[in-house]
Amino acid sequence: MNETLKEILGTIPETPNDEITPATLGRIGIIGGGQMGRGIAWTVAAKGIDVILVEQDEESLKHSLDILEEELNYEISRWGLTNSDKRAILSRIKGTTSYDVLQNEIIIIEAITESIDAKKNLFRKLDSFLGKNCILVSNTSTLSLTEIASVTQRAEKCIGMHFLNPVPKVQVVEIVRGLKTSQATFEFVKKFAERIGKQVVEVYESPGYVTTRVILPMLNEAMYVLMEGVADEEGIDNALRLGYGLNIGPLQLADTIGLDEVLLWMEQLFKDYGDLKYRPCPLLKKLVRAGNLGKKTGRGFFCYDEQGKPITSS
Ligand code: NAI
Repeated sequence: MNETLKEILGTIPETPNDEITPATLGRIGIIGGGQMGRGIAWTVAAKGIDVILVEQDEESLKHSLDILEEELNYEISRWGLTNSDKRAILSRIKGTTSYDVLQNEIIIIEAITESIDAKKNLFRKLDSFLGKNCILVSNTSTLSLTEIASVTQRAEKCIGMHFLNPVPKVQVVEIVRGLKTSQATFEFVKKFAERIGKQVVEVYESPGYVTTRVILPMLNEAMYVLMEGVADEEGIDNALRLGYGLNIGPLQLADTIGLDEVLLWMEQLFKDYGDLKYRPCPLLKKLVRAGNLGKKTGRGFFCYDEQGKPITSS
């Protein structure tokens, strides 16, 4: 094992060929059981690694675990999983509302709401009691990792893993270096990402990285096109999907991400870059104000059934 990995792994036993295995990695902590936290938990557990999923209260935890089970059932109904896969995945995910059960984990991934204050509070708290080898990972899309890490005494062990939704299906993860992230942390997290089947793109801290920064103006522009009456929802999505070989049209993609999330990201990029191309479309604001947040509420640009399948445009 090379020195940098040893330094990070600390007390974890050595393994042949520097491989990370479930036994050497131990349990992964995931904080926040929304659509990203659930997707990360599923992905990690499907690779045989145990997960402890922390939610903010019992109601949110129950909701999160119930939805996860529904998502797995849906995947079974599409023949994407078997019942025994589902049982194995669920048996590896333990839910809790207490941070105290986290202690010896090497990797903790936060996927809580996109708020700089909430993420800083969480990192401050985790840093105060977690072992010194623990790596703190943020899944933030637009916030500064360096700023989040600045409230800890372990900025070199703070890093971003920007998974995309739906996590079990999307192959890529952006691994984001903050200003003080060490090479050893980067190498370890890259190995972990590969171990859970993801292809890594290395990015340096910048609002929206590559994926969010490039896709958001397209989603926003599709909303302006709709607002101006150039075409209807289906027309816009079909034009982009069929015209450019996309799996999903921009309006349905925005619904899938969550319109509240898209709005938060646009506002953050607009604030950071000061560029009008990131000014959120008024229609997006209107839908968010109405509580039409996309798939998660059953209604956004399109309407969805309980499995998240589109029914008609709203
Ligand atoms: P979400 O709103 O679906 O889930 C957030 C979850 O965190 C909720 O279940 C909430 O109860 C929980 N939570 C909030 N504060 C908490 C705390 N202090 N402790 C424990 N749990 C807490 O949000 P979503 O979409 O899952 O996003 C989470 C993060 O992932 C955000 O930073 C977002 O920017 C990022 N992200 C989202 C993507 C998407 O497509 N939605 C894609 C890539 C990144």
